[in-house]
Amino acid sequence: MTSLPALTLNNGVSIPQLGFGVYQVPEEDTTTVTAALRAGYRSIDTAAAYGNEAGVGKAIAGSGIAREELFVTTKVWNTDQGYDATLRAFDESLARLGLDHVDLYLIHWPVPAQDRYLDTWRAIERLTADGRIRAAGVSNFQPAHLRRLLDHSSLVPAVNQIELHPAFQQTELRELHAELGIATEAWSPLARGVVLDDEAITTLAERHGKSPSQIVLRWHLQLGNIVIPKSVTPSRIAENIDVFDFALTDEEMASLASLDRGLRTGPDPDTFN
Ligand SMILES: NC(=O)c1ccc[n+]([C@@H]2O[C@H](COP(=O)([O-])OP(=O)(O)OC[C@H]3O[C@@H](n4cnc5c(N)ncnc54)[C@H](OP(=O)(O)O)[C@@H]3O)[C@@H](O)[C@H]2O)c1
Repeated sequence: MTSLPALTLNNGVSIPQLGFGVYQVPEEDTTTVTAALRAGYRSIDTAAAYGNEAGVGKAIAGSGIAREELFVTTKVWNTDQGYDATLRAFDESLARLGLDHVDLYLIHWPVPAQDRYLDTWRAIERLTADGRIRAAGVSNFQPAHLRRLLDHSSLVPAVNQIELHPAFQQTELRELHAELGIATEAWSPLARGVVLDDEAITTLAERHGKSPSQIVLRWHLQLGNIVIPKSVTPSRIAENIDVFDFALTDEEMASLASLDRGLRTGPDPDTFN
């Protein structure tokens, strides 16, 4: 079975660099997460908003894999932002997951129009101090949101999970993360499939005898990103973790830089609520 490389977060916690995303995996479908765990994934990325935490919890419980070998991420949804609401939402997520702690808890979106993420973060600080969250992070935070958070808290997010793929490379935000000691986690790492026909990618796929998806995931890993590709298709679940037996050259990495076309497939964090 593939042994997954890990990154060390800014608080010393280790995270597998490649995990499994479960957005749009139905609650009742426990076979998908089960297939991922069998294929060797050990990190699962869910969220209260995905409505499938209980299904993820069931698949974990049925896997027989020791809790300490797993890395479970979930997120507080926009309507649960604020100090008390976040504490409640966290308890509810844990109950659905059937766990007594999560490895990473994220503020799902900054929702600047609500302006509650500082209070939400205070709740997350408390949950972290209580040992119920091993690492605390954010998602979809823009530079201004990160800077404001850091102006009000000494707890630096371990992770910022952002939309990132070859068509939206987020170079400036990645540089800011590096400066602040925040790990970059890429959501929609495959751009939900839209980049897989790009010629620069298919050329490398043919050269390496790999699939376009494997080339894109390898590009992320070599940039230092954490990736969480999602699939409900068993062959793709296996394909997406089979990316540790080849490497792209510096020149090949550079050839993918030209694919950046500022293409957001998801909402704009500055306006999304
Ligand atoms: N924090 C946030 O705001 C946020 C937002 C979006 C996503 N996320 C997280 O990031 C995870 C991944 O993002 P995502 O699900 O949006 O997109 P993604 O992983 O980039 O792409 C998933 C899509 O690509 C297809 N696919 C997967 N592997 C493939 C392969 N090897 N070849 C061809 N097609 C393949 C899947 O199809 P099938 O499933 O039909 O196989 C699915 O339609 C999510 O599941 C979620 O955990 C977080």
